[in-house]
Amino acid sequence: MNPAFGFPNGDRPESLRNLSGATQYVDDLTEPAGLLHAVPVPSPSARGHRLSVDASAALALDPSVRVFTAADIPGENQIGSVLPDEPLIADGEWTFIGEVVALVLAPDRALARRAAALVRVSGQDLPPVTDAREAFRKGDLLFPPRTIRSGDVEAAFRDAAFMAEGRVESGGQEHVYLETQAALATSEEGSRIRVVSSTQSPTAVQRGVSRTLGIPYGAVTVEAGRLGGGFGGKEDQATTWACLAALGAALTGKPVKISLRRREDLRLTGKRHPYSSDFRIALAADGTILGFQADYYQNSGACCDLSPAILGRTLFHATGAYRVGAVRVTGYMCRTNLPPFTAFRGFGGPQAFFVIESAIAAASAASGIPAEVIQRKNLLSEGDVLHYGQRADQCRTGIVWDLLVKAAGYPALRASIEKFNAENRLVRRGAWIVPVAFGISFTRIMMNQAGALVHVYQDGSVVANTAAVEMGQGVNRKILRVVERSLGLAPGLVTVERTSTAAVANTQPTAASTGSDLNGMAAFFACQEIKARLLAFAAGALGAKAEELGISDSLLLRGGKPTGWDWKRLVAEALEARVDLSAHGYYATPGIFYDEAVERGSPFAYHVYGAGLVVAEVDLLRASYRVVSARIVHDGGASLDPLTDRGQIEGAFAQGLGWSLLEELRYGEDGNLLTDTLSTYKLPDGSFMDFPLDIEYLSDPPNPHAIHGSKAIGEPPLMYGIAGYFAVLDALRAARKDAPFFDLPMTQEKALTYLTGGRP
Ligand code: MTE
Ligand code: HPA
Ligand code: MOS
Repeated sequence: MNPAFGFPNGDRPESLRNLSGATQYVDDLTEPAGLLHAVPVPSPSARGHRLSVDASAALALDPSVRVFTAADIPGENQIGSVLPDEPLIADGEWTFIGEVVALVLAPDRALARRAAALVRVSGQDLPPVTDAREAFRKGDLLFPPRTIRSGDVEAAFRDAAFMAEGRVESGGQEHVYLETQAALATSEEGSRIRVVSSTQSPTAVQRGVSRTLGIPYGAVTVEAGRLGGGFGGKEDQATTWACLAALGAALTGKPVKISLRRREDLRLTGKRHPYSSDFRIALAADGTILGFQADYYQNSGACCDLSPAILGRTLFHATGAYRVGAVRVTGYMCRTNLPPFTAFRGFGGPQAFFVIESAIAAASAASGIPAEVIQRKNLLSEGDVLHYGQRADQCRTGIVWDLLVKAAGYPALRASIEKFNAENRLVRRGAWIVPVAFGISFTRIMMNQAGALVHVYQDGSVVANTAAVEMGQGVNRKILRVVERSLGLAPGLVTVERTSTAAVANTQPTAASTGSDLNGMAAFFACQEIKARLLAFAAGALGAKAEELGISDSLLLRGGKPTGWDWKRLVAEALEARVDLSAHGYYATPGIFYDEAVERGSPFAYHVYGAGLVVAEVDLLRASYRVVSARIVHDGGASLDPLTDRGQIEGAFAQGLGWSLLEELRYGEDGNLLTDTLSTYKLPDGSFMDFPLDIEYLSDPPNPHAIHGSKAIGEPPLMYGIAGYFAVLDALRAARKDAPFFDLPMTQEKALTYLTGGRP
């Protein structure tokens, strides 16, 4: 093979290509001739009606400028995936700042931007609502409240030796993917639309384009190459931008590209849902959790988006990794005038984990029982039934906890922290462990399916097409390994194609950490099919039984011994004998079910277990803090690619720490995002992450519920970052024993307020 060429995702980590700049994101693609650049015109305020758009000044700028509004949409002006409450372009009324009211096209980007600035948008402002509880009081809910209950909660509180209650706030989180939202659409001979989109869900884009242009799915092809990150932000919300590009291409007949500027992306697109929650927790005298009750007010934003599925996951993860006697949890999807909040790594899970961990911190403060005693005592164990009816299976919470405590030397660590705090006047240290049990599967049962199309070419090289979208999480590399292993190939023969709706249809988003579980399994089945055909053919040709034959390291073996045929020969002979060298594989996760009418079922194929410890230090004069060290024990199954999985654990943990400690979204009362730059929205950077991080990865036992014994990895480790919040809180409380507060992120400002005797 030509060494300069290299296989796209085979012999070397794709991160090398990312680092060297060889990777092409949408805005890096060679621009087709006649390309028009599209720029969105955002709404003037958070809420209003009697919208009017005057494009005359923009059009007067240059004859090449085009301006489109809702009236130009040939199909249905609607892209809402769960509820039909999301127009592609605002028509008459608008409900959040950044809602698109017009689309400007021009042959060069600067001209398009200048023209967009000249579009005059007017209308009548209406008072916006930005707070979830205010929307709740006004009765503005997307759906009726949803409750999951088990056991007798009232009895639990009657019998309690200790009880605590409180309010928990958790802020949103901006995805800050490297590549902003982008799409390039081409109208092919006026009869087909092709869209290259930075989307986690090509089929969602296909659906949106079909709907807004009024053409069949079959006339739309959507491709996703390699995304510069998604983190959930492109599960539902890439659709808007792809549909706008497709609209431009359909109306002009020319290729149209849209690529948001960072600030536009920050202002116009959705983020993690902020939650405001109330909890009540009941403990027996020995620390057993008898009851837990919570009300979650989800700030859903202005449109439904994926809010119901996200709230569902919050309710499932309400008790975290703990066994709780009696549970009653209720979620409210509160409509506000902020850009629709959307999927973000963890998908409602982190919000739930933060509330239960807050409840434990409050219960510890109320009872005087150390948090780690309450935590260890109540960890889920084998056979426990969760509040929605699923049994904890192959439960590893106790194992990961005990390994972590042992590796960290926890009792000694505690003693050393106490000693440190006694000996230092101006600094305090604190520590916290968060145990995790994270359910794997889309919470919507239907979505747990995937297809794959595998081709073997006559030179023996193999190409896999799947529904999985590569966004940096390494799913292509994992699928490649699955294909190699399933076919028995030596490295270097397999590549994974760009994701396309033309190759694999009716795809589900690459999300819920299930990318390699679902698509890896689909690819495995396709390979099994091809391999069975090849071995049946070889059996005939060599006068052997198919069961005697196998392929290993690209050699055809009989009874484990070489036959003289290698993979290339096998493929060439099979083609000559007219054997089909392509196959489609399909996988639907077995054994999962859920009945929302009674809120009972077993929605997850399995759980990922782990525990994370953070030690933090606070400077009492400045209220600044740093992470001193962190340690994670993660039960990840037989990894498909250990280096990738280590990267996923580190990245998710950093993102979790960022959410818990640093990343603060601030909105004005008028709904305007004040933190709309990366100088005002603080991310965990290299210097923040500069502390010793120990990761112990448990690969044994292999997981019987996913491909080659592996486990999903993408989201669960984010939850370890929540330990950062409580480690800092623990350090603050070593200086000042006021009641704990639960208002994430723990910014330096809040730490200072607490230290000076205020309530943050
Ligand atoms: N890792 C990188 N580098 N970039 C991403 O965008 N997304 C995360 C996670 N890890 C993401 C990532 C999210 S939100 C999910 S759901 C999973 O990857 C999706 O991919 P997987 O299912 O293949 O793990
Ligand atoms: N996780 C992520 N994305 C989703 C889910 C989920 O559980 N359900 C629907 N979209
Ligand atoms: Mo991830 S939030 O499920 O894309």
